[in-house]
Amino acid sequence: MPAISTSAPGKAILFGEHAVVYGQPSIAIPVMQVQAKALVTPLIKSPAGLIHIEAPAIDLDADFDSLPDDHPIRRLIVLVAKELDIKRFPSFNLKISSTIPLAAGLGSGASISVAVARSISAFTGSPLPDDRISALAYEIEKIYHGNPSGIDNTVIAYAQPLYFIRGLPFELLNISSPLTFIIADSGIKSSTASVVAMVRQAWLNETERYEKLFNQIGTISFYGRKDFEQGNLQSLGALMNENQELLKEISISCPKIDQLVSTALSSGAYGAKVSGAGQGGNMIALVPPDKKEEIAKALQDAGAVRTIITHLSPP
Ligand code: PMV
Repeated sequence: MPAISTSAPGKAILFGEHAVVYGQPSIAIPVMQVQAKALVTPLIKSPAGLIHIEAPAIDLDADFDSLPDDHPIRRLIVLVAKELDIKRFPSFNLKISSTIPLAAGLGSGASISVAVARSISAFTGSPLPDDRISALAYEIEKIYHGNPSGIDNTVIAYAQPLYFIRGLPFELLNISSPLTFIIADSGIKSSTASVVAMVRQAWLNETERYEKLFNQIGTISFYGRKDFEQGNLQSLGALMNENQELLKEISISCPKIDQLVSTALSSGAYGAKVSGAGQGGNMIALVPPDKKEEIAKALQDAGAVRTIITHLSPP
């Protein structure tokens, strides 16, 4: 059995984070500049069934058997075995690495799950299709998030922009002209599970107000889809700004993100908003391609700990 290496991208949410958990539409894009990688190598001389896992970024260097039952990587390996109807894997070493910052709204957990499920299934000679990989990663998202909409695992497994409504078939989106985005990291770590739980509590306390705000966000995703597909830069940017105002109303932004958003706008971005669970993490801005370096520099000067310039191109 040859060694298998697979990777999966990060992701950013363009419209609809949080509202998507409550059934509103959302648009997400893959971010190919950051990646999770999983390398599976056979352990020829080890006893059958031995699985060793190395993930230096999270200080993990352990055998499968020594991990607690609810460990996300252990759970994922069990799910892959069930999916493939394998009682015992041939022995292997699994090495996980990632350039996706943790707890920053770029989908690091889902990306690791997708890369791992892909590499193990390919290693056994039965590579799973994207829909099954996404479904397995979704099971693991439930451990990280509590109540995930499923958008992260889906956009990462398919590595294409998509229009997503929880519980409905998603739609892959094609664009007709190139789009350039800058993603800027506030450096503030934020736990998706706790921000999603905070929003749920607020929604329970003020259901009518929150439903109205979520509806408005969903309407932005609905109209934003056409602007995204047709490359209407001004109106796409304006909708990002409107989405940001609504996210502020549900306490999803924070002073550092607000500062990065206003820096992006005053430096020439068409629109900018928090991306992902928020209260820290990353901001996304739609920018004119000829100003990308200048805006990225302004964001760094304003305190972004890292900027990623990412392009989407027509097929
Ligand atoms: O994991 P994050 O930070 O990208 O957040 C995912 C987006 C949410 O809408 C906040 C949660 C979800 O499951 O859709």
